[in-house]
Amino acid sequence: MITVIGSINMDLVVETDTFPKQGETVQGKLFTTIPGGKGANQAVAAARLGSQVRMIGAVGDDSFGIELYKKLMSENIDVSGIVKTNNSTGIANILLHNRDNRILFVPGANFDLNKEIIDANIQLIRESKLVMMQLEIPAETIEYVFTICQEHAIPVLLNPAPAANFKKEWMNQITYLTPNETECELIFGADWETVLKEYPNKVIVTLGSEGAAYYDGSKIVRIPGFKTTAVDTTGAGDTFNGAFAHAICSGKSIDDAVEFANIAASLSVEKFGAQGGMPTIDEVLARLGGHEV
Ligand code: RIB
Ligand code: NA
Repeated sequence: MITVIGSINMDLVVETDTFPKQGETVQGKLFTTIPGGKGANQAVAAARLGSQVRMIGAVGDDSFGIELYKKLMSENIDVSGIVKTNNSTGIANILLHNRDNRILFVPGANFDLNKEIIDANIQLIRESKLVMMQLEIPAETIEYVFTICQEHAIPVLLNPAPAANFKKEWMNQITYLTPNETECELIFGADWETVLKEYPNKVIVTLGSEGAAYYDGSKIVRIPGFKTTAVDTTGAGDTFNGAFAHAICSGKSIDDAVEFANIAASLSVEKFGAQGGMPTIDEVLARLGGHEV
């Protein structure tokens, strides 16, 4: 069982030919509301691949909250750890331009995910094979979960996004940290090669279409990505994380798990929406050449 403790957002996506500059009004092309949130996305990614996933999170008392809750249920995710608060549901304002995006995230109910909610779900956490978190929930909650996981020797995968919410003192509480190149530089103030060497088998840096890399204790291992035509890269990192978690919990090595996650991420960018292209296990295996890594 993988437990995801994280955000649940409605993505408000605007497709546009140009990003507006300061003080400028630009006419966009298309507006879509579609389920997202880094926590929910990573939960969906792992569940589609066949993992048993539980989610602990908070939605607001509004129609987005109901819709997102139902969506997670329809993905076979155990939603018993999701609470409804009297805040508004988290949203992400996404500007999509040339397959690339700019995201403005408003936490809302996600920031109501507190220690009491964690305590109410402590049994779920204790039974987990892996706990997966991101940084769209309060830092105190993340720190509280660290202490529980440490006490029960449960591995923690932390995806440090948005990176501004990361604290370096967390490093020894984390089993796997999965920044992208930009987040890695922002957090550690050094180039990723240097960072990887400092944290062998712990920091896995994702490099977009270039794949991912980590340091195995003696050398940097670079695992190239699968080149494809992207429609929407939103949620590619989340797919990587969910797939990596799935593979690690299935007993794969870091090397094989990264290769598997690269393939899953490449499939995810071929469709619109963060969760839109997240693949099933068969889709990943087909792209891997029919054989399991
Ligand atoms: O990682 C992509 C996600 O980031 C989007 O779904 C959006 O909700 C933001 O949280
Ligand atoms: Na997608």
